[in-house]
Amino acid sequence: MTDYNRTLQNFNISKFQSDLLDWYEANKRDLPWRKDQDPYKIWVSEIMLQQTKVDTVIPYFYNFLKKFPTVYDLAAAEEQEVLKAWEGLGYYSRARNLQYAVREVVEQYGGQVPNSPKELEKLKGIGSYTKGAILSIAFNQPEPAVDGNVMRVFSRVMNVDEDIAQPKTKKLFETITREVISHEDPSAFNQAIMDLGATICTPKSPACLICPVKEHCQAFELGVEQQLPIKSKGKKNKKMKYVVLLLRNENGKIAIEKRPEEGLLANLFQFPMVPTEDLAIDLVESWFSSAYNLNIILGQKSGALKHVFSHITWELDIYQAVLNGEQEIPEGKLKFVDDKELAAYPFPVSHQKMMQYL
Ligand code: ADE
Repeated sequence: MTDYNRTLQNFNISKFQSDLLDWYEANKRDLPWRKDQDPYKIWVSEIMLQQTKVDTVIPYFYNFLKKFPTVYDLAAAEEQEVLKAWEGLGYYSRARNLQYAVREVVEQYGGQVPNSPKELEKLKGIGSYTKGAILSIAFNQPEPAVDGNVMRVFSRVMNVDEDIAQPKTKKLFETITREVISHEDPSAFNQAIMDLGATICTPKSPACLICPVKEHCQAFELGVEQQLPIKSKGKKNKKMKYVVLLLRNENGKIAIEKRPEEGLLANLFQFPMVPTEDLAIDLVESWFSSAYNLNIILGQKSGALKHVFSHITWELDIYQAVLNGEQEIPEGKLKFVDDKELAAYPFPVSHQKMMQYL
């Protein structure tokens, strides 16, 4: 018998549920996506909440739903407008996938967000967590919605010492959740676990003494809550160095370009970036000339900044630059805009920060 099966044998499921749900009823956070059970709003909120804290998400959520109140509005929007509404939230493929999937909902499902696991999981950007969150929160189905916070809570409650970085551990917690989830109110149950993870069963110093489920918690009983969950370290963050050019033409307009359609920060705009891992600063001009077919004069360094993504760190040196005389701008690459026009384009946070040096 596996350890968790043994744990479940002595586990009072119905008391656990009622202790948790009573606490949730009295203490649930007042969050904008909890005002109704509109599956589109729940979906938007769950996508925004991946990798992003509740406090950060709230203003974005309001703004996004004001701009795109229904699936039809989001489906009809320009991608650039959607990225603009996501600007600063990070992980921009979330926004692009959401719009792609919403278009499918409009085309294939008459604008109704599907309520079956099979249909939901076919939609772009909907993995097992988001599927479970939509099914439980919007449609009251007893489905697990297991993310890192939920794994932390259950690894403590059940004293599970498997590595939560492993996909099979997530499966284990989905199995556990299926056993213990409330069938009367799966929506409240899953959200209660999320709130417990966010406010009490926190990563560093869990507030066990005021925890509503402490009497069910194996880790608390054994005093090992601080050692759980077990999580193996991911790959090392890779450093990438660039010179970023605040490049002006003869009319004082500034150069921007659209990033590639795939990969990091896809389709966002940026000031041109010169990779300088193996490039001395005095070679930036000639690099630029061969890459962009434009002659530039590199000016002063204005500043430097670092931006940490999940798997890479950008180290950016910011330089002023000008075009070396009037030149034809090659098709497709750069475009030159007025400073005040910049606000219309979606930029990554690091490039927004650079605008102070304009
Ligand atoms: N984190 C992820 N989903 C959440 C939700 N629906 N409510 C609160 N926190 C969350």
